Amino acid sequence: MNKRLYIETVGCQMNVLDSEMVVASLRKRGFELAGDLAGADVILFNTCSVREQAENKTYSALGRLRSFKKAHPEKIVGVMGCMAQKDQKLIFDRAPYVDLVVGPGQLARIPDLLESIAAGKGPQMAVSLGRKEGPVEEIKRSHETFDPLRDPTMRPTPSQAYLRIQIGCDKFCTYCIVPMTRGPEQGRPPEQILAEARILADQGCKEITLIGQTVNSYRYASGGRTTRLADLLHALSDIDGIQRLKFVTNYPKDMTDDLLLAVRDLPKCSPYLHVPAQSGSNDVLARMKRGYTVEDYCEMMGRIRATIPHAAVTSDFIVGFSGESEADFQKTYDLVAECRFKNSFIFKYSERPGTKGAELYPDDIPHEVKNRRNNELLALQNRISEQESQRFLGERVEVLVEGPSDRARHRGEEHGEVVQLTGRTHDDRIVVFDGNPRLVGEIIPIAIYDVSPHTLFGAVVTEHVSGAGLQPAFGIL
Ligand code: 5AD
Ligand code: SF4
Repeated sequence: MNKRLYIETVGCQMNVLDSEMVVASLRKRGFELAGDLAGADVILFNTCSVREQAENKTYSALGRLRSFKKAHPEKIVGVMGCMAQKDQKLIFDRAPYVDLVVGPGQLARIPDLLESIAAGKGPQMAVSLGRKEGPVEEIKRSHETFDPLRDPTMRPTPSQAYLRIQIGCDKFCTYCIVPMTRGPEQGRPPEQILAEARILADQGCKEITLIGQTVNSYRYASGGRTTRLADLLHALSDIDGIQRLKFVTNYPKDMTDDLLLAVRDLPKCSPYLHVPAQSGSNDVLARMKRGYTVEDYCEMMGRIRATIPHAAVTSDFIVGFSGESEADFQKTYDLVAECRFKNSFIFKYSERPGTKGAELYPDDIPHEVKNRRNNELLALQNRISEQESQRFLGERVEVLVEGPSDRARHRGEEHGEVVQLTGRTHDDRIVVFDGNPRLVGEIIPIAIYDVSPHTLFGAVVTEHVSGAGLQPAFGIL
């Protein structure tokens, strides 16, 4: 088998990390990355099932491969990730030229499955057990975590990495397919997490983002001792080289005081909390089975603001969930106005077959209404984001430089002396500025002179660069 791999990834941070892991395991077997589809021998799509649109895009991309595969039958086409787990054999029905279907819990098998296909054994499929397809321990094992080794070259930037601390989800929000595709919630053992973080630090990683569907529900019990997220943050803070710790995504009900205190007291912890509210209406929250009321959410916001006043809080909202009345939507609007999030990600409800929502509630809000509510909420959030950004005018922020901005990349400016660079503050704000590409991976001071809703524009504070060296600084935002 020729061993050039092209991998396309859509979806959440879990998928980005899964792709990194798959690439690392295939490199061990002699694979190299191909820059595009045409130059590849193996083509993998890492897919998302959270909304129908994401699935449609993947099926269209597969459709476009039909004639390509006819012309090059020796090339291997694979579908991995949540859509592979959810649709399984249906993928072969809709795109019969697909060779490989692998769910997110079975990714470790990809190298062997590719060899079977190359040896002429025909199409291969590896998926995990469904939530009711056996004893819970067996189901858990079939969704095993896959975090064996790391490949820094696959990361968006070498100085930043995701670290999975939890797989799966047990919350069963009625709209959500994730508990079905990624299986039962399981915390990884703390020793494994710490060992992986040390490897990342040795590889030059400065920022680690801990990921889990409900990352702050993390718990690991062993030998009479239970480890929580706050304990992990304390332990990870002691690792030299790691300068920033972030964690996503949080579940409102599990935002405990010990966690907020850890974020307040540990300088390496970013003052940034992504805590999706999903709706501002108690009726809708109850139908979503989110497990909290708007009052609970506001009480949590109060504790965040009281404990970490400078924290940037972001949220997710779904508009147009089944039965969402104009009055319900108004309550969501009011919640966004009251909470003043740094940003909100707003989604139109997409009915997912296999969820309780699809079974129990009709998808009864017309497209135009979903669109209008989406736009109204987005406009409000953009106004708030812009106002919140204004506070940074004339301020100095510490930025971890990620790389050339999209504009610079687009113009092919990477190799110049000074290019437009982008990076992030400790509280996860995007900053754009001009600088030497050598700054990538450094944490440097930037003076902000202009803002837009989601971007701060600034200039490198030069006396620091040419003076006593670049001193990392934390928690001053
Ligand atoms: N339709 C629309 N948005 C959804 N999300 C999850 N499931 C759906 C769905 N069926 C959103 C939630 C979640 C984010 C990752 O995606 O807001 O927080
Ligand atoms: Fe989906 Fe709810 Fe679990 Fe988040 S907490 S992954 S929205 S079921």
